[in-house]
Amino acid sequence: MSALSTPLDPLALPPERLPPYDEHHKAKHRLLEEYMKVWLAKLAQTHPHVAIIDGFASAGRYRDGRIGSRLIFLRTYLTHAARARFKAPPHLVFIESRRDFAQHLRFELDAMDLRGIEVDLIHGEYKVEFPRVVDFLATRYGQPPTFAFVDPLGYDNTPFALLRDYRAQLGSRAEAMVYVPTDFMARFVGTTLTEQALDDLFGSREAWQRVREETTPGAEASAKLAEAYAQVLESEYKLVSRFAVDPASRNRYYLFFGSDSIDGLKAMKDAYWKVDPEDGRGYTQAIVEAAGQLGIFEAAVETPKEPEDDLLALMRGHFEGREFSIEEAERFALTTTGFRAAHVRSLALTPALKAGTLEITVRTSKRQGGFTPGTRMRFII
Ligand SMILES: C[S@@+](CC[C@H](N)C(=O)[O-])C[C@H]1O[C@@H](n2cnc3c(N)ncnc32)[C@H](O)[C@@H]1O
Repeated sequence: MSALSTPLDPLALPPERLPPYDEHHKAKHRLLEEYMKVWLAKLAQTHPHVAIIDGFASAGRYRDGRIGSRLIFLRTYLTHAARARFKAPPHLVFIESRRDFAQHLRFELDAMDLRGIEVDLIHGEYKVEFPRVVDFLATRYGQPPTFAFVDPLGYDNTPFALLRDYRAQLGSRAEAMVYVPTDFMARFVGTTLTEQALDDLFGSREAWQRVREETTPGAEASAKLAEAYAQVLESEYKLVSRFAVDPASRNRYYLFFGSDSIDGLKAMKDAYWKVDPEDGRGYTQAIVEAAGQLGIFEAAVETPKEPEDDLLALMRGHFEGREFSIEEAERFALTTTGFRAAHVRSLALTPALKAGTLEITVRTSKRQGGFTPGTRMRFII
């Protein structure tokens, strides 16, 4: 615990005072857990310090006993297979504005064996505390790889300026996952009610103004707002992706992810496909429930489907007539399609090689079709 922490008395809230768990939370939490496993394995073994900031931490546990994001971060670290090889445990910082939730989280943390792990719990407002945390991490560690999870209840407390400053101070390894409730925002985009909140979220009026001018509130505006937010995030990050979550309430929201690392995007896309084995783009509660009240992942596994897009055709269209590397092929699939890196081999290159429509021009593996780093190739016919 560092000077960031708020002195708090632990308080075990009775279940009825903890937040209710909604099925769609599972999608968000599985994404976090899958991504964090890879992120920690890669970065905690190669950097002396890594940090995780949960800007809207909640109570740590839901009414039905399931754990929330902050305990997922901790559990992922504590149960990590490569933990013994980490240079140091992650520095975890949790911010929560509700005192009773923060106190409950204090209770949960006190019940865990956290010896040797720096865990700070701050009772306070994200807007005030997040910049303070960023300053602290920058002063103490320089520019450690950092993952910030920004998961508010609405959209009026997450100014983009804070993410800009986060990047400016912590550098190119400061990643973020941000909740953006576009369906909800779309209802107000034509009004003056939430102009200020939208200006803050997008960082400027220009970034979302066109959506108001060109669309009527509704599904189309929601999709355009998502597109506009992606563009704003792209002003800070080289690589931006998003995962749609459609809860039973039909208030679709997106979890946006910004990173400068192709390995980061690769790991996040792998996580998307674990949550949505159909096309890796999103989770729809109604579909999962219609599949027979099975849990989200079981339902998806029960009815596997091939993705609608044809990755091989997309790649042929892009690389036709020129030589390209396996790295370029993966980057293309990761950044311009919904596919994940492994699909490049399984759905495109291997079938093309077997069909005689791909020739390897530079082989780096002894095995035919190994597609190891540095492999170069071209489509023929
Ligand atoms: C959607 S919940 C977070 C859920 C959590 N990330 C999880 O996945 O388990 C949002 C939390 O942020 C808290 N909160 C709301 N406004 C806040 C603010 N301005 N600063 C910090 N926390 C805030 C709420 O009390 C609530 O517990």
